Amino acid sequence: MDWSPAHVPDQSGRIALVTGASGGIGLETSRMLAAHGAHVLLACRSVERGRAAAARIGGSAEVVRLDLASLDSVREAAAWVRGRHERLDLLVNNAGVMFPSYRRTEDGFEAHFGVNHLGHFALTGLLLDLMTAVPDSRVVTVASLAHRAGFGAVDEDAARSSTGRRSPTAYGRSKLANLLFARELQRRLATAGAATASLAAHPGLSPTGLWHGDAPRLLRPVVAAGLRWLAQPANRAALPSLRAATDPHVAGGAPLGPSKLFESRGTPAPARSSRASRDMAAQSRLWELSEGLTGVRYAFPSAPAAPDPSGAVCPVTGARG
Ligand SMILES: NC(=O)c1ccc[n+]([C@@H]2O[C@H](COP(=O)([O-])OP(=O)(O)OC[C@H]3O[C@@H](n4cnc5c(N)ncnc54)[C@H](OP(=O)(O)O)[C@@H]3O)[C@@H](O)[C@H]2O)c1
Repeated sequence: MDWSPAHVPDQSGRIALVTGASGGIGLETSRMLAAHGAHVLLACRSVERGRAAAARIGGSAEVVRLDLASLDSVREAAAWVRGRHERLDLLVNNAGVMFPSYRRTEDGFEAHFGVNHLGHFALTGLLLDLMTAVPDSRVVTVASLAHRAGFGAVDEDAARSSTGRRSPTAYGRSKLANLLFARELQRRLATAGAATASLAAHPGLSPTGLWHGDAPRLLRPVVAAGLRWLAQPANRAALPSLRAATDPHVAGGAPLGPSKLFESRGTPAPARSSRASRDMAAQSRLWELSEGLTGVRYAFPSAPAAPDPSGAVCPVTGARG
């Protein structure tokens, strides 16, 4: 049976933070989470646009200023959340740019990599301890079919390149980084015995503000045709994120995406991802690189003690370092 928003369990009492909630897929994800009872923190670059989004959503929502192109702003947003909330159930790393008007972020990172990956890497690390003891808490990172265009190593040179502004490869590399990060985070959470799962989702194709970037001229007709024939509206494109955030039956690490027409549209289902995204050595290298570049080191709970095979020692339960 196809999954639909009717399958979303009651989210009352759950606190969700969605990045890039001012428009497109983030707005729709927030709207549906709020409609199912969640209190939603709309993390937006512009507080004004965030307030307008909150008015459209109508449920229980707050706006927090977050510019992922600035690590200072990421730290301020995390501090704001920590000052108001003791726990976080859902973190949806949704915001994204493609062919933006600027080359580098405030901290000197290539714009796609800095906003789409490093900003979210830092935000997640700064909020994770609000989540790791919360039952069925989840980090959902929004990737893209374009991760397959992410050729070349994700290394420090690529992270600081000034030539990626109109490059499909640079966008693809940032989306590949989203998948590498989601899988590595899931492995580390599982090893630590945390209550949090990390999942990835991709929306297929949707005619949102993402496509208003400064695309290379040769790509524009392809994009126009793709959007005309394959795209689905943002409220449907948000369903893989919504399912990843709420379906108790999906496992951590698994990517979800639309099920039809080469995963461009349709109901959300387990999705395919490239061999490069499943490369465990690359996942681990990206993690080290991201910690180094952002200065954010993740604090995982201590792993639960392995049961003593002799049965002589009682395992300690509920201890989290
Ligand atoms: N639409 C598609 O076909 C498609 C396909 C594959 C993957 N995706 C992914 O889906 C996600 C959502 O994109 P969308 O299609 O909904 O695009 P969108 O309508 O352009 O929304 C992007 C959101 O990200 C926010 N954002 C941009 N730069 C930011 C920054 N520096 N700090 C904080 N927020 C920032 C935007 O805020 P402002 O309002 O301030 O600009 C906006 O709310 C992205 O990760 C994208 O890569 C989309």
